Amino acid sequence: MSYFISFEGGEGTGKSTQIKILKERICKTSNYQCLIIQEPGTTNLGDKLRVLLKKETSPDHSITYLSELLLFSAARSELVTKVIKPNLEKPNLIIIADRYVDSTTAYQGFGRKLELNQIELINKIATHMIYPDLTFLLDSDPEVMFQRIISKSETNLPSNLNTRMRKDIKGTRKFEEEPIEFHKRVRTGYLKILKSSSERMVKINANQDKGIISDLIWQKIRNNIPNLK
Ligand SMILES: Nc1ncnc2c1ncn2[C@@H]1O[C@H](COP(=O)(O)OP(=O)(O)OP(=O)(O)O)[C@@H](O)[C@H]1O
Ligand SMILES: [Mg+2]
Repeated sequence: MSYFISFEGGEGTGKSTQIKILKERICKTSNYQCLIIQEPGTTNLGDKLRVLLKKETSPDHSITYLSELLLFSAARSELVTKVIKPNLEKPNLIIIADRYVDSTTAYQGFGRKLELNQIELINKIATHMIYPDLTFLLDSDPEVMFQRIISKSETNLPSNLNTRMRKDIKGTRKFEEEPIEFHKRVRTGYLKILKSSSERMVKINANQDKGIISDLIWQKIRNNIPNLK
């Protein structure tokens, strides 16, 4: 049997870090294989849309929030059809998603303030109603996370942190350019999703030590997936 796990949370909350640790742990201690997927991305169309969606644009070239929602959703639909569905049929496989459908509700719904009913419908279409078995929400106050990112960054950072977020040296970090209020709404959104999806979603305090967080994740996964030591 295969399992589908997603990681969610605001910018820099440690999703990629925990996915890497989890993958190593699964490979070392079980006969499950891991498939890591990244949203948007992983497919040909998804990779192309990722560049488009994550790139900073001048106001003249910006796209509407609704177009942004539809492009993220197009990438997801492609990912579900071409990667998630076929792999869910394979035995002993754990699919780990670095962001999935909850990011759309949190970022486009709560962050961008698009109509939540529309988001819900579009999410249903784009996911083909395939939801993760388990979702880890790495939760933190965005101000704390941005301080952490800054303390780890090698770049010269803007002093007006509260209104403009860090510009990443790699360039393509559109959401980090949003004001802190946007990120606070995203966090609120995630906490609302948690309330309505508590059967699959687990909240973890992202301010803890990496090792403690990875142990909490491992404990939960072992309780849910048989034959993991
Ligand atoms: N528990 C932790 N304590 C301290 N630092 C951490 C912790 N987890 C991750 N980090 C560091 O914080 C930074 C962001 O982590 P990471 O890239 O894993 O976050 P992310 O959620 O994937 O970010 P993004 O939203 O940008 O993809 C990295 O420098 C990472 O080493
Ligand atoms: Mg990441």
